[in-house]
Amino acid sequence: MMKVATELCIFLFNTSCLVLISGLQLQSMPYDYSATTECVPEPQRAQYGGGIIVNPGFDHNIKDWTVFEHGTIKERTSNDGNTFIVVSNRTQPLDSLSQKVQLEKEMIYIFSAWFQLSEGSDTISVVFKINGSELVKGGHVIAKYGCWSLLKGGIVAKFSSPAEILFEVKCPGVELWTDSVSLQPFNKTQWRSHQADSIERVRKSKVTFQVNHLNETSLEGATVVIKQTKADFPFGCGMNYHILTNIEYQKWFVSRFKYTTFTNEMKWYSTEKIQGQENYTIPDAMLKFAKENGISVRGHAILWDDERFQPQWVKSLSPEELREAAAKRMKSVVSRYSGQLIAWDVVNENVHNRFFEDKLGENASAVYYSTAYYLDPNTSMFMNEFNTIEFSPDQVASPPNYIRKLKQIQQFPGTTGMLLTIGVQGHFSRGVPNIAYMRSGLDLLGATGLPIWLTESSVDSNPNQAMYFEEILREAYSHPDVEGIIMFVGPAQAGFTNTQLADANFQNTPTGDVVDKLIGEWGTGTHTAIADSRGMIDISLHHGDYDVTVTHPLIRYSKKLNISVRKGFSPETIHVKMHA
Ligand SMILES: *[C@@H]1O[C@H](CO)[C@@H](O)[C@H](O)[C@H]1NC(C)=O
Ligand SMILES: *[C@@H]1O[C@H](CO)[C@@H](O)[C@H](O)[C@H]1NC(C)=O
Ligand SMILES: *[C@@H]1O[C@H](CO)[C@@H](O)[C@H](O)[C@H]1NC(C)=O
Ligand SMILES: *[C@@H]1O[C@H](CO)[C@@H](O)[C@H](O)[C@H]1NC(C)=O
Ligand SMILES: *[C@@H]1O[C@H](CO)[C@@H](O)[C@H](O)[C@H]1NC(C)=O
Ligand SMILES: *[C@@H]1O[C@H](CO)[C@@H](O)[C@H](O)[C@H]1NC(C)=O
Ligand SMILES: *[C@@H]1O[C@H](CO)[C@@H](O)[C@H](O)[C@H]1NC(C)=O
Ligand SMILES: *[C@@H]1O[C@H](CO)[C@@H](O)[C@H](O)[C@H]1NC(C)=O
Repeated sequence: MMKVATELCIFLFNTSCLVLISGLQLQSMPYDYSATTECVPEPQRAQYGGGIIVNPGFDHNIKDWTVFEHGTIKERTSNDGNTFIVVSNRTQPLDSLSQKVQLEKEMIYIFSAWFQLSEGSDTISVVFKINGSELVKGGHVIAKYGCWSLLKGGIVAKFSSPAEILFEVKCPGVELWTDSVSLQPFNKTQWRSHQADSIERVRKSKVTFQVNHLNETSLEGATVVIKQTKADFPFGCGMNYHILTNIEYQKWFVSRFKYTTFTNEMKWYSTEKIQGQENYTIPDAMLKFAKENGISVRGHAILWDDERFQPQWVKSLSPEELREAAAKRMKSVVSRYSGQLIAWDVVNENVHNRFFEDKLGENASAVYYSTAYYLDPNTSMFMNEFNTIEFSPDQVASPPNYIRKLKQIQQFPGTTGMLLTIGVQGHFSRGVPNIAYMRSGLDLLGATGLPIWLTESSVDSNPNQAMYFEEILREAYSHPDVEGIIMFVGPAQAGFTNTQLADANFQNTPTGDVVDKLIGEWGTGTHTAIADSRGMIDISLHHGDYDVTVTHPLIRYSKKLNISVRKGFSPETIHVKMHA
């Protein structure tokens, strides 16, 4: 335990070190990031042995489970001898099985369970009936007959209260089959330590320096200064047209970020306000600015599946005219910037919306992904959706529904070989973030094997904004399947009113302080270490490029070298030889 704690001290700000050591010496259950989106013949065992759920696998018949509202519950045994529970005679969506638990204020609860329906296919949601009245949805799964599907979700308790766990499924009459139910509580200290463990595993590598004389004698007391020149992990920020004219905004941006997305300037409604009159003056200039400053750009967005955000003239086109106009738009914007961007949001928000699907057919999105891929083959093509990880009551864009759309695109013939990436916006807006739902959602999305980016993360203005934003950003950075974060935030002078990082005088807001703290913690800081009697230094470094300078009080010159620390970094020992 102590060993882990020592390593944590290297990258956590010194003040929290003691707290973490004392937290870690106590028993802490590791977090299980595993999930599956496959429908399988038999359910797996309950995660965490069921956590605080009593009789989680129905090995003791229906003990401690009751009927919620109407219906009957009975134990059933599969051909393989697995016992599960069946709710029959259902008439209402909430007719299900239920168990009472006690939720404790500020605890984070990960929920999981396996489901099957006696016929057809439908969405099942877990519902927490809090304090006898409020119904809070904590996760969703598309279940069907013939195999078992995993629901993974969760809830953060805003106050201590009793809660009843129940399940919602629309179709009346259909039997609800359930097995391996789990509700595992974690406190904030445990949660933070899981994040720290994961960051250590996925974002950092251990490096050893061995400093010797030319004759191999070790050089005790050598000083090694390690300065990061480039962080590997893309942690970027949205940018808007104010960057072209506001010098202070330019300085603010360039001193912090190497990745960006233009918030609106590449959108169709910006580049072709009037049909046939394209104008790329502003995005061209912004891209030029980005290139001059070594900033990589995500393209946003080729098309948008929401009717409200079409250029005005597009809304009244016939399907044939729309097909033609959209093809022209794609060719225009994608060819213009082909090979110059790191990503495209191809059909924005196509889980919530279906403007193109309604007018042009069910495969409209998939067709546009294949076209974008054809026009710009080496660039990552993203889906980009809101509420998938940030708002558990929004069933429409839940991880399973997102994945269903993703598969439709992935399986479309023209997209074979395309770098498909999962974009989740991460606009958090309703008070305490449901960090349990966020992590479970990332687990499920990650189970597809595709990389995930948070593409527009932000938190609505509220008194706890800075704290909530830190929780969300840490969660994303620590998750093994997340490969980038872009925030849609910025300074007041650029018109960012919602998640503002700097005020009208470019003084940091508390939320701005959080972002700067994380930039420092995840990368750019300078480490200084002294070689021990064996001439050795062990250090754990965030992935990135480093300039290393080695000096010794008795040696007149210094030695410089560059190292790249990457995931799976293997030259564990870096030998530095100095002659007197
Ligand atoms: C969090 O949980 C751990 C492990 O159960 C426990 O030792 C610790 O006291 C808890 N911390 C807080 C702040 O409740
Ligand atoms: C449905 O309800 C009826 C009457 O309440 C009961 O006889 C029957 O056994 C129930 N069906 C199942 C499958 O439990
Ligand atoms: C929970 O319910 C009780 C009884 O209805 C009520 O007095 C209490 O205020 C509720 N607590 C919260 C935090 O809503
Ligand atoms: C190696 O070189 C250093 C510096 O010249 C010297 O102090 C040391 O005694 C040498 N060691 C051996 C084993 O020759
Ligand atoms: C294109 O947009 C720029 C920037 O808004 C504007 O200055 C210019 O007049 C526009 N060009 C045309 C031909 O409308
Ligand atoms: C895509 O990348 C491959 C490999 O790096 C390269 O050979 C090819 O020319 C690139 N294609 C385009 C269109 O840039
Ligand atoms: C959509 O594309 C799939 C191939 O991925 C094809 O099987 C299906 O028939 C298409 N659907 C429509 C409505 O064209
Ligand atoms: C290390 O990289 C920097 C650029 O970051 C370069 O200027 C320098 O020459 C390199 N040094 C060595 C020793 O390769």
